[in-house]
Amino acid sequence: MNIMTILGIETSCDETSAAVISGSQVLSNIIASQSEHLQFGGVVPELASRAHLRKIIPVYRAALQQAEIALEQLDGIAVTFGPGLVGALLVGVNFVKGLSLSTGIPFIGVNHIEGHVYSNFLGDNRLKPPLLCLIVSGGHTQLVIIREHLHYRVVGSTRDDAVGEAFDKVAKLLGLPYPGGPEIDKLAREGNPDYVQFPVGLGKSKSFDFSYSGLKTAVLNHVQKLTDTERKTHLADICAAFQKAAVTALIDKTIRAARTYQLTQIAVAGGVAANSLLREMLKQHARKYHLTVYFPELRYCTDNAAMIARAGLQRLKSGFRSALTLTAYPSLQLGEEKTD
Ligand code: KG4
Ligand code: ZN
Repeated sequence: MNIMTILGIETSCDETSAAVISGSQVLSNIIASQSEHLQFGGVVPELASRAHLRKIIPVYRAALQQAEIALEQLDGIAVTFGPGLVGALLVGVNFVKGLSLSTGIPFIGVNHIEGHVYSNFLGDNRLKPPLLCLIVSGGHTQLVIIREHLHYRVVGSTRDDAVGEAFDKVAKLLGLPYPGGPEIDKLAREGNPDYVQFPVGLGKSKSFDFSYSGLKTAVLNHVQKLTDTERKTHLADICAAFQKAAVTALIDKTIRAARTYQLTQIAVAGGVAANSLLREMLKQHARKYHLTVYFPELRYCTDNAAMIARAGLQRLKSGFRSALTLTAYPSLQLGEEKTD
C-alpha cells in the first residue's frame, strides 16, 4: 500500500494543534498553547473553546504550509473526539467534518489516549506489538496490554488521582505555576529525594492499580508543618521526595506487569512520559530484566496533533471511517468503539 499522508487535529484541552504526517514521518506539528489559563492555575473550559475557535484555522494552515502539502494531497484526516472538554473537542470535530464534507477526504475520530499510545510509533519505527503500555497523563494512569494494533486490555488503573494530576496539585500547593509537572521535574534535580519518605501509593498491593491521593495529602501535611522559611529552603527537596515516591510506584508496577504477562517491550505514553526521573529509572530497572523501554520523543509526549494523525493512520489503514454524525465524547474510554 502507498504511504498515506494524514492531517491530524487536536483540540481536547488547552492546546490547539494540527500536524501532517506521511507514514510515520512527521512533516509538521504546529502547537498553539493557550496562555489564557495561566492566571487561573488550571484550564477554564469556556476560555479553551473560544481560544480553539480563534486558533484552529491559522494553526491548520500553518501545518499544511510547513509540510508543503496541499489539502487535495491528503489521504485522510484524523481528529480527537474524546476524552476531553466537550466544547473544546467540538471545535476540532466540527472543523474536520466541514473539511471532509467539502473535499470528500475520509476522516476518522481518534481517542486522545490512543493518540498518546501511538506517539510511540512516530519517527523511526522499531516498536511493534505485543507490548505493555504505561499511560501517564493529566487525566490517566493505566497499564495496558497491546497484543495487536488498536486492541487494549487494561490491567491496572488509578483508583483516585492520575499521576499528572498529582504533579499539578502538589505544584499548586507549593506555589508553583501550572502545569506543575515540568516545574517539579526541574526543581527536583537540585533536591535531595531522601529528605523525607513519602508513601508509595498501593506500594505493597499485588494489584497493578495505582493511587495518588494519599501521596498528595502526605505532601500537604508535611508542608503545613513547615515555617515559610523552611518551606522555601526545602522546596527542591520536597519536589525530589514527592517525585521519587510518584515515579517509584510507576516503575515497580510496570516492571512487575511486564514480567507477569511475559511482555518484553514497554512503551510509555502521555505528558508524564516527559519526566526525566521516570525516563532514567525505568530504563535502568528494565535493563536488569532484559526488557526494552520506549519513550516518545519529548516533543510528542505532551498534547500534539502528530500523535492523533499517527493513530488515525492506523485506524484508516484498518478500514475504520467516521460518519458526519460523529460528535464529541468527553468521557470516552480507551478501546471504546463508537459507530458514528
Ligand atoms: O498528556 P498531557 O499533555 O495531557 C493530558 O492528556 O492530560 O499531560 C499533561 C500532564 C500534566 O499533568 C503535566 O503536569 C504532566 O503531564 N507533565 C509532567 C512533565 N511534563 C508534563 N509531569 C512530570 N514531569 C514532567 N516533565
Ligand atoms: Zn493528553
